[in-house]
Amino acid sequence: MIALEKASRPLKGDVFVPGDKSISHRSIMFGAIANGTTEITGFLESADCLSTIDCFRKMGIIIDHSMRPSNGVPVITVHGKGLKGLSAPKGTLYTGNSGTTTRLMSGILVAQDFDCNITGDASIEKRPMNRIIKPLSQMGADISSVMGNDCCPLHIAGGKKLRGINYRSPIASAQVKSATLLAGLYAEGDTVVYEPALSRNHTEIMLSAFGVDIHNEVARDGSAAAILHPGMPLKGIRINVPGDISSAAYFIAAALVVPGSELLIRNIGVNSTRDGIIRVLKQMGADITLLNYDDSQEPKADILVKYSELTAGANGKFEIGGKDIPTMIDELPVVAVVAACANFDTVIKDAAELRVKESNRIDSVVENLQAMGCDIEATEDGMIIHGGKSLHGADIKSYNDHRLAMSFAIAALAAEGTTRIVDDRCVGISYPSFFKDLQSLL
Ligand code: S3P
Repeated sequence: MIALEKASRPLKGDVFVPGDKSISHRSIMFGAIANGTTEITGFLESADCLSTIDCFRKMGIIIDHSMRPSNGVPVITVHGKGLKGLSAPKGTLYTGNSGTTTRLMSGILVAQDFDCNITGDASIEKRPMNRIIKPLSQMGADISSVMGNDCCPLHIAGGKKLRGINYRSPIASAQVKSATLLAGLYAEGDTVVYEPALSRNHTEIMLSAFGVDIHNEVARDGSAAAILHPGMPLKGIRINVPGDISSAAYFIAAALVVPGSELLIRNIGVNSTRDGIIRVLKQMGADITLLNYDDSQEPKADILVKYSELTAGANGKFEIGGKDIPTMIDELPVVAVVAACANFDTVIKDAAELRVKESNRIDSVVENLQAMGCDIEATEDGMIIHGGKSLHGADIKSYNDHRLAMSFAIAALAAEGTTRIVDDRCVGISYPSFFKDLQSLL
């Protein structure tokens, strides 16, 4: 448990957050199935990404940690063994709390020549896996839920010949898209995944850097397509992982709820499929500026955020929904906290996916904000936050969800009295030094 008080003065200074989780996972997985070595700097050493490393080590991939002699920068080297170089793991592959490991790795494993089982912690065993079982089965894979409940444990029977498909995903999900595209690497014919709105495209960007013929385009009906032509082997590369915008989000929010604050958050990935939090908060009037913008394949920038009073616009109500949602899906809990501190109503809609994250993030956010005195109601696909009430400290249940624990640490900075976060250690899933980094600004 951790106890936090209302911030007694503005937050000022420079902040560095750890590497991007989505990019870190992919760097290990794609490095493992590439030919030659992949060198990764800026890798996120958190529980989720260590689950990915663990699983690939169990399948015979050598992954070393070292320091670059010239500058002491930590480097992870993945000794890739090519598309079919993985070996059968002894025992079940354990993915911990990580949906990304579970779903993306499944897309690779359905194409191998061995059988395997995959499972994770109690939260993973409740998360829907039918969303990947469906497209992968259509491709000819043999993947099933052992308990028949569409959840983990999953059993994969190897040795199947796969065919490319055109898959229309009903949801915008990078995990579904990526699992399908990864299986597509091994399939006969092209694989195309259509989604209602473009989800994070790190898989497309990184596979392309590894030498795969893959791209995004807008389909005639307006949906987002990712198109993969298989046949090229992956070639090991160097990857520099930028800071995670999902971790930066807590500091952006902190500066917006503590009057007088000014933070410069350095070297953050600002890919347009991830930057919804910046766009939406700026529409609310937040003073956020991107500095030192580096327009590489995965764009990066320093984010300067200054405390600013937020406003709702013409009708006194601010709405977040539609195509913005996939670009800020993991940031919605902390955006709800910012909205709770504002003076107007905020409606979050089209975000039913929040119900199937590490916790049911609609119910868990609403319950905890209510405990802090916020007037907020849950809806099927989001929440309505009636701003204008001052928050007070409360006992927060994180439900072992890292993003809940961090979001409510930020709410604590704006709340009168003491806020206690039970099960705070779950921050280690994506940001092990979060509380230390936050405390250093208080
Ligand atoms: C992720 C995709 C998103 C996101 C998750 C990481 C990824 O999940 O919420 O934290 O790395 O592909 P969905 O694909 O289920 O939306």
